[in-house]
Amino acid sequence: MQGLAPSSKLSLSVVVVLFLLGLASAAAHGRKRIVSSSSDEPCTKMTLYLHDILYDVVNNTANATSAEATKPTALSKSTFFGELVVFDDPVTERNALPVGKEVPAARGQGFYFYDKKESFNAWFGLSLVFNSTTHRGIINLMGADIMSQKTRDISVVGGTGDFFMTRGIATLQLDANEGTAYFRLKMDIKLYECYV
Ligand SMILES: *[C@@H]1O[C@H](CO)[C@@H](O)[C@H](O)[C@H]1NC(C)=O
Ligand SMILES: *[C@@H]1O[C@H](CO)[C@@H](O)[C@H](O)[C@H]1NC(C)=O
Ligand SMILES: *[C@@H]1O[C@H](CO)[C@@H](O)[C@H](O)[C@H]1NC(C)=O
Repeated sequence: MQGLAPSSKLSLSVVVVLFLLGLASAAAHGRKRIVSSSSDEPCTKMTLYLHDILYDVVNNTANATSAEATKPTALSKSTFFGELVVFDDPVTERNALPVGKEVPAARGQGFYFYDKKESFNAWFGLSLVFNSTTHRGIINLMGADIMSQKTRDISVVGGTGDFFMTRGIATLQLDANEGTAYFRLKMDIKLYECYV
């Protein structure tokens, strides 16, 4: 029997190697990138509520999830200019605060600071940390929180885990507040780039 010519043997082994490399890269790149082609059609959307319970400097140490880390600066005209607040807030799918030992949908971990001399205005940076059977991963959000606007958009700049490399927009709206001790923020999150 006549064997394959050396050149055919070479090309056959090249094909086999390429095939094996192909299999390896398919296994290494399990997620497929989906980019929305229209602002009306995000690849994922969700509504979540952030509960910010501010430390009242009196008696709510056990209950508070948020505290001022710096005092307002001398430039503040009762506008808190320069005050920074750090939080580790419960985040829920419905607007009620978690009851007892109920595990919230996520934690909202980050900070906001007041950045306008003449009026209230803030800048927000936070991670939504999901660690449940539904979602495991992080969505990172940041941007100017223009408090004079009823709703304001901040950027979803990235993510990890179930939200690997995501991007999008979060629309924030004050949903409730109790003086300076508590506020609830409604966050409508639309992701336009998803890896699934
Ligand atoms: C905690 O402080 C608030 C505000 O001063 C007050 O209304 C509330 O009754 C206090 N609660 C307790 C348990 O002392
Ligand atoms: C996530 O949940 C698991 C299981 O409930 C727990 O062991 C782990 O410490 C949690 N991780 C974080 C970052 O909370
Ligand atoms: C915790 O704070 C929230 C928001 O102010 C309040 O509704 C709730 O009653 C507080 N819980 C306790 C145990 O103080």
